[in-house]
This record gives sequence, C-alpha cells and structure tokens, in this order.
Amino acid sequence: MAIKTKDGSESQILAVGGYRPKRLVPNSEIIQKIDSTDEWIVQRTGIESRRYASADESLVDMAVAASEQAISRAKLTSADIDTIILASITYPYQTPSAATDVAMRIGNPHAAAFDIGAACAGFSYGVAMAHDLVRAGTSKNVLVIGAEKLTDFLDPADRATAFIFADGAGAVVVGPSKEAGIGPVVWGSDADSRDAIVMSPAWTDMRDKDYKSIVKDSVWPNISQEGQKVFRWAVFSMSKAAVKALEASGLSVNDIDAFIPHQANIRIIETMAKEMKMPESVVIADDIRTNGNTSAASIPLAMDALLEKHPELHGKLALLIGYGAGLVYAGQVVALPPKP
Ligand SMILES: CC(C)(COP(=O)(O)OP(=O)(O)OC[C@H]1O[C@@H](n2cnc3c(N)ncnc32)[C@H](O)[C@@H]1OP(=O)(O)O)[C@@H](O)C(=O)NCCC(=O)NCCS
Repeated sequence: MAIKTKDGSESQILAVGGYRPKRLVPNSEIIQKIDSTDEWIVQRTGIESRRYASADESLVDMAVAASEQAISRAKLTSADIDTIILASITYPYQTPSAATDVAMRIGNPHAAAFDIGAACAGFSYGVAMAHDLVRAGTSKNVLVIGAEKLTDFLDPADRATAFIFADGAGAVVVGPSKEAGIGPVVWGSDADSRDAIVMSPAWTDMRDKDYKSIVKDSVWPNISQEGQKVFRWAVFSMSKAAVKALEASGLSVNDIDAFIPHQANIRIIETMAKEMKMPESVVIADDIRTNGNTSAASIPLAMDALLEKHPELHGKLALLIGYGAGLVYAGQVVALPPKP
C-alpha cells in the first residue's frame, strides 16, 4: 500500500538519528524518594530504566549529536539543511532559540531556525510543518529535532512524575521525494484540559517572590500532572485521532508495518493498539521500557531504536502519534527512512 496525498511534489524522512545520554538510571535509583517499588513502576508504566544527562551535557549537546547522525545517514552535509525546527519544552533560555544554537554548532549558521513548543507532540508537529515546507518548495531539506533535558525540570520527590520523565534527543531529515513519504497530519488540541500537565510557576512568579521564599518552598518550575486524567484522555481520544491519521492517508491498520506512538506508558500504548484492532503483524515501539518518557524526543528515539532492532522495517509504513501538555496531539503515517 502507498500513502495517498494531494498532487504535488512530495516529501519523505531521509534519515533518523538519536542520542541517549550514557547514564542509565534503573528504577532502584528513583524509588526511595517517592516511596515506590520497581514492581509498581514496571507494572503501571513498563519503565525499567531511563537515561539522565550529566550536569555538563546540555539539551543542545544532545540535539547536535542526534542531528549530525541523521544528516550523515541521509548522506548530506549540514550545508544541505536549509531549515531547522527544534521541538522542546526544556530549553532553559527564552531566546535566542535552541535551533539557532544547533545551526551554529553543526556549521550552518544561515539556515532558517526556530523552536516549537507542543510538548510530547512537538516532534509530530515538526514533521507536519517540514512536510508542508518541502511540498510548498519553501525548504529543501528540513532538520526536525526533538530534544529534552527533563531532569532540569523534574522534582525527584514527585510521585506522579519522577519515575516517568527522562533525557535524550532524536532528529530526522525531511527532504523532497517523488513518492509520498509523509501523509497528511491529523492534529488538534483539547485546550480545556490545559491544567492536566503543567510546568509551574512562571518565571515572572519566581521574580516576584523574594529569594528566601524560593529556597524555602523550592518553587523551581517543575513539571506536574494529573496522571489518571492524562491516561484516560490518551487511551480514548488518541486511538481515535490515530485512526483518523490512517484514514487521512487512505490507509487502515492492516496496511501499516509499525506503530510508533509517543512513549508515555506501555499500558497506554497497548490499550491504543487494542482499541484500534491492530493486527499482530504490526511492530509496536516500546522504547519506554529502557528510555522512559523523553517528551518531544520520544518518537524519533523510538523510531531509531525500532530500526536498529528491526532493520527490515526501513522504507516500510509507520503510524506516528504524539500527544501531551496542552493537551495537544498530532499524528501522521510516514514511510520509515531507507537503510543508510
Ligand atoms: C502516573 C501513572 C503511572 C499513575 O498510575 P495510576 O494507576 O493512575 O496511579 P493512581 O494515581 O491511580 O494511584 C494508584 C495507587 O498507586 C499509588 N501510587 C501513586 N503513585 C505511586 C508511585 N509513584 N509509586 C507507588 N505507588 C504509587 C497511589 O497512592 C494509589 O494507591 P491506593 O490504591 O492505595 O490509593 C498513570 O496515571 C499514568 O501513566 N498516567 C499517564 C501520564 C502520562 O503518560 N503523562 C505524560 C503524557 S505526555
């Protein structure tokens, strides 16, 4: 089967790259501060371990490593990249963007470069924009990066988040193609649930408190969430959105080879697959088990891991669906990149 889109020039993912920090953190290192157990975390989320960046390893360091791997696997150089889109919620500077830092560091300081904030859906938002930019002829080769250092904004004593979130970066190069390699995006939001996942307080709230109270209350902006609310929304609404993404490409679950949803919770992933009546032949990404939830980085990292484990999937069709704080979501069918 092939992806169906409107007539015009097409786009495809030319290559994927990933960067996982060296430090592997098993559940045993997390549980003490949150009064939990390895069994509870594995049973409720599937997470056995995750990766944490070191203190001197920045979000941009990780983004550059993933980008360089993707560019080299695409058999391009950084000079061939004319647009850089970086999705993140944890870049610690308001401006200039992380994307411009990546542009500098990969040696192409003249590329169009900007960041987007769509939380765990950020990568799929970026792929959708890259697809449109290439199809419209605005850009030729777009580097789409998802990069997060969530440990900078994580409360290690928060029972609802400390065991879930982690660090890493993934990147793809989206370029021109004769055949449709990226299907139409299905995206949207449920903004009435904006409060379900938040990073607070605001920087301005911090400024308005005196230093002593900040230290005393340790009100550093941390991520927090209503776990059950997010769980229910993900399971019921996201399987419907994923089916719509398949239909937008003229496909059904029987036409795809892989399912690469946002890596938030293995129970969400398995329930979505069941709701969608996904046949057993579809390979389902489960990077969550060893890498936790890396927000915008989770889909490209899961794609990279899946292709490493299943090289036969190069060039085959995969359904992507990202969702997260906002609440926002985006999904599309893509042809996985060819073998480098
Ligand atoms: C966070 C999450 C794993 C919590 O699992 P849950 O089954 O909803 O847990 P609940 O909050 O209902 O709590 C169930 C029980 O576990 C306990 N519990 C909660 N957190 C715990 C923890 N970290 N360790 C051990 N026990 C815990 C609760 O106290 C409760 O105990 P009780 O039954 O004796 O009252 C789950 O809600 C989830 O994954 N939600 C989706 C979040 C997500 O994916 N966010 C990112 C989206 S981008």
